[in-house]
Amino acid sequence: MVVELAVDRVVAGGAGLAEHEGRKVFVPFAAPWERVRARLVSSKRDYAVARIEEVLEPSPVRVEPRCPLYGRCGGCQFQHISSEGQLVVKKLVLADALQRIGKVFTVVRNCAGSSEPWHYRNKTQYPLAEGPRPLVGFYRAGTHQVIDAPACLVHPPAFDRLRRDFVDALERSREPVYDERSHRGNVRHLIVRGTGRELLAIVVTRTGRLAPTLVESLAASPGVAGVVQNINPDRTNRILGPRFRVFAGRDYLEQRILGRRLRVSAPSFFQVNTAAAEALCRKVLKHLAPTGAEHVLDLFSGVGMLTLAVAGFVRRVTGIELDPDAVKDAQSNAAANDIPNCDFVCGDVDRAIEAVEHADAVVIDPPRKGCAPATLDRVAALRPKRIVYVSCHPATLARDLARLAGHGYRVRDVEPVDMFPQTFHVEAVASLDWTG
Ligand SMILES: C[S@@+](CC[C@H](N)C(=O)[O-])C[C@H]1O[C@@H](n2cnc3c(N)ncnc32)[C@H](O)[C@@H]1O
Repeated sequence: MVVELAVDRVVAGGAGLAEHEGRKVFVPFAAPWERVRARLVSSKRDYAVARIEEVLEPSPVRVEPRCPLYGRCGGCQFQHISSEGQLVVKKLVLADALQRIGKVFTVVRNCAGSSEPWHYRNKTQYPLAEGPRPLVGFYRAGTHQVIDAPACLVHPPAFDRLRRDFVDALERSREPVYDERSHRGNVRHLIVRGTGRELLAIVVTRTGRLAPTLVESLAASPGVAGVVQNINPDRTNRILGPRFRVFAGRDYLEQRILGRRLRVSAPSFFQVNTAAAEALCRKVLKHLAPTGAEHVLDLFSGVGMLTLAVAGFVRRVTGIELDPDAVKDAQSNAAANDIPNCDFVCGDVDRAIEAVEHADAVVIDPPRKGCAPATLDRVAALRPKRIVYVSCHPATLARDLARLAGHGYRVRDVEPVDMFPQTFHVEAVASLDWTG
């Protein structure tokens, strides 16, 4: 059935939201404040999903998407919304999640725009599939079908060239491409990371060596700092397996943040947008507003990006991080940058926090799933004067802020950061004060 819909707003997950005959209708690729003619493609008791057939009255923030893959590739769901419009949408999505999920009513600040809303990514993960030539591209939206991606507008053009070199070398090498349905074949993903000197990771199922021609020609590509192999023998959606092996060059990349050079080894997490990561460090410091006397706890500290950013302004910082490679990176980053007043604990935050006896302030930057309730309870029991919570998932942020509020913390304000332009993802920094 084709219906006319008024799209009032865009919601978490990126779809427009409209109403039809008393039911909510989600409209992917709609912009806020527009009228569309759309076909109802799926219908449930409480809601329906509609596909746009025609935009009748375009939103004032609707623009022509730049990428030929827009709508087919699973990324960049917001290319039809202007950069300024995306910032407004993200602020509204964040405020909505805080109020609806967490009953957190607080100031949500404007999202400052990115200096570079295109070509900003320092990491791209390409899945592979068999084709007349090996297909190295992106998943079609909502599927695991790989589509060819000769160019992408959110990562640097150098990545496109490396992808092309990889396809040529893979074809020459005759290494079999992995097929996830039959779980046969070998080469399953190519990961490119870096901002200038790139690190390539080839994800394979078998432990054996890859064809030397493949590795040698990749290592010889201009701008390649290292080639590593990751072995993932499992039938899984998880991209990386537990083991890495260096093929050529180095097994880490370097990132520059606030004038510091940070080492990030192949398995370690790093924010995908280096310029926005730097902005994030500044915002964390601003929200922390340290006096210089604090002992700060940095939970989920990764390679120490936030730890080191904070260290110069406080008495001491202790980072806690699960990934041993990231902890080694953090220790080496502290030493290389001559920052003596920080230390790192390798362990699960949920357990390691039990041993912490004191913190004047706490920075929390968990994965998307947020924090365990007991961990938040323990943080609150330490009675830090301020907590700064960095999140890439508004729903879990709202849930966790509500829990901390239940312990007597007031959410002072929340500020979005434009970490993922062209996509619906929202990064945010929240600050909480002890009011007890
Ligand atoms: C969003 S990243 C933040 C990293 C760092 N703050 C930064 O900005 O680069 C989350 C980090 O938490 C780590 N992590 C995930 N689960 C953990 C856990 N249970 N305990 C400790 N660290 C964990 C991940 O390895 C990752 O480095």
